[in-house]
Amino acid sequence: MKKTYQCRLVKKEELCSGLYDFTVEAPEIAQSAETGQFLHIACGGASFLRRPISICDTGETTVRFIFQVKGEGTRELAKHEPGDMIDIMGPLGHGFSVKPGEKAAVIGGGIGVFPLLKIARDTDSAVFLGFRTKELVVLEEDFRAASQNVTVCTDDGSYGYNGFAVAAMSEYLTENRPDAIYSCGPAPLLRIVKQIAENMNIPCQLSLEQRMGCGIGACLTCVCETKNEGMAKYQQVCTCGPVFDSKEVVL
Ligand SMILES: Cc1cc2nc3c(=O)[nH]c(=O)nc-3n(C[C@H](O)[C@H](O)[C@H](O)COP(=O)(O)OP(=O)(O)OC[C@H]3O[C@@H](n4cnc5c(N)ncnc54)[C@H](O)[C@@H]3O)c2cc1C
Ligand code: FES
Repeated sequence: MKKTYQCRLVKKEELCSGLYDFTVEAPEIAQSAETGQFLHIACGGASFLRRPISICDTGETTVRFIFQVKGEGTRELAKHEPGDMIDIMGPLGHGFSVKPGEKAAVIGGGIGVFPLLKIARDTDSAVFLGFRTKELVVLEEDFRAASQNVTVCTDDGSYGYNGFAVAAMSEYLTENRPDAIYSCGPAPLLRIVKQIAENMNIPCQLSLEQRMGCGIGACLTCVCETKNEGMAKYQQVCTCGPVFDSKEVVL
């Protein structure tokens, strides 16, 4: 059974409207977390089920996560103030397998950029971050501190590269061949990243987002279709993922 911890909120910042950056004191989670794993958080209020949120970063005794207020659970979570205790289960799931120092293309969209920060830091990375518009651009400074090569893209061209992050990455790939591609974001982005990686025969890992119930493999809410040697296979995103080899996932 996965452990739950009562974690004190030590830092809270609203990065942009409805997007919160939380740091909690959670030494056990901080010490065992792998990049790409997630937390299952009891948000409080009337929301009964825990909500999955990616681990963005860890310190020696702290864990950082960033979330967007979507519905009841995240709205309740956002009401917490520094000093409050939060009930957190984790770290959960299967994270990214990263080779430190390898040449990596790291591409994320929207709330999918958060679990990629540590990969940007641990590899020789070229990072492509996609947001709808300038007001939604977050974590740029953190990524610039982590990597020498960061391209921030906006769909409407209001900031940085004018267009989708996949277009910026495709331009980079015309002259560069990374050892691996890592991605997290909305399904349309993951679909194109998967295609590009497979066309170029570059190993690629994708982090999937799926609605979750238990978070520990017991309820089947999060099942997704995968392929194993051409055969359809259904796997739980909470335990077998959220990170999968791109060749395995059906998008
Ligand atoms: C492994 C994993 C990691 C995640 N990491 C982050 C993160 O780092 N930051 C972040 O902001 N969010 C993250 N999410 C998404 C987050 O879990 C949901 O936004 C949250 O559960 C919504 O809960 P709620 O009670 O506020 O909204 P609800 O009332 O449950 O839902 C509000 C709306 O969001 C939709 N929704 C809820 N959950 C999901 C989901 N998993 N995928 C797509 N649509 C959904 C619902 O269909 C509904 O339309 C992650 C999800 C997964 C599975
Ligand atoms: S969320 Fe229950 S099995 Fe994955």
